[in-house]
Amino acid sequence: MKIAVLGYGTVGSGVVEVLDVNKELIKARAGKEIEVKYVLDLRDFPGDKIQEKIVHDYDLILTDDEIEVVVEVMGGVEPANTFVKKALLAGKHVVTSNKALVAKTGAQLLAVAREQGVNFLFEASVGGGIPILRALGSSLTADEIEEITGILNGTTNYMMTKMFYEGADYQTVLKEAQANGYAEADPTADVEGHDACRKIAILSSIISGKMVDFQDIYTEGITKITTEDMAYARKLGMNIKLLAQCRREGSQLSAMVAPFLVGAEHPLYSVNDVFNAVFVKGNMLGDAMFYGSGAGKLPTASAVVADVIAAVKNPDKDIMNFWSMDKLELESYKDTVK
Ligand code: HSE
Repeated sequence: MKIAVLGYGTVGSGVVEVLDVNKELIKARAGKEIEVKYVLDLRDFPGDKIQEKIVHDYDLILTDDEIEVVVEVMGGVEPANTFVKKALLAGKHVVTSNKALVAKTGAQLLAVAREQGVNFLFEASVGGGIPILRALGSSLTADEIEEITGILNGTTNYMMTKMFYEGADYQTVLKEAQANGYAEADPTADVEGHDACRKIAILSSIISGKMVDFQDIYTEGITKITTEDMAYARKLGMNIKLLAQCRREGSQLSAMVAPFLVGAEHPLYSVNDVFNAVFVKGNMLGDAMFYGSGAGKLPTASAVVADVIAAVKNPDKDIMNFWSMDKLELESYKDTVK
């Protein structure tokens, strides 16, 4: 079974590596060998064995009937959106890690996928390697989800951990996060909270079954947090975390992203470094927390490849069936995070 990977950056190279390192077990689980036939990138990689698969013309992928799954890991809304739509219309499954794309046009792309009878899967778009979308979309379907509070951005959590525990300097830790492959191409998306905002919009859409516009979500990043703030928090026995939250009050949902003081008794207090965590409250389930590597090459690629296996086996078709194109009006955020 042949696939094409769009983008040979951090996640794209991770996908190739996961498929290579775990080749045998993936073959056993997918029921067939999964082979990368093409990698679409603007660049060439002379001297790298990936070069023989590099193509610059997307039509080559679209018109090749051997390609069953297109993996979009380029990031950004365009041209990713056009590429994904074309792949779906060509009858190919699509797997993406691209939260900007899913938050912007996920509902439309799901509708196209349904019409075409193929999968559009995006587990890696929220929480890196943490399987949170399947949990919400397939496992917690008996519950009304009353609250989701998450640390959904690995870059800022890594930076704030270093600032909190080591008194590290903002610019230095941002550079470290970039060097580790956690940050977005433009790290403004991380530090201004835009990345977390897209992710909580996706989670809100999945639990409400409607389209939540990320532009309706109040968003504040970490750029105003100083080492002095960190010192005060420490004195209070608290931590400062960039939280993304959505909460249900009756039929209304509210959502926001902002830095919060978190007390030591809250499970999110000790979520450090690049780890993400998603705290979920269900009306039957009660509290649950999903924790794991929220960014970086291999954790994200692990979720992408799992989606490729799911697409090949096809059991997950319409996993997000209840995310319709109806827009949900958010309630303006009234209350504080508990
Ligand atoms: N820049 C993102 C983060 C990558 O730091 O969480 C994973 O979505």
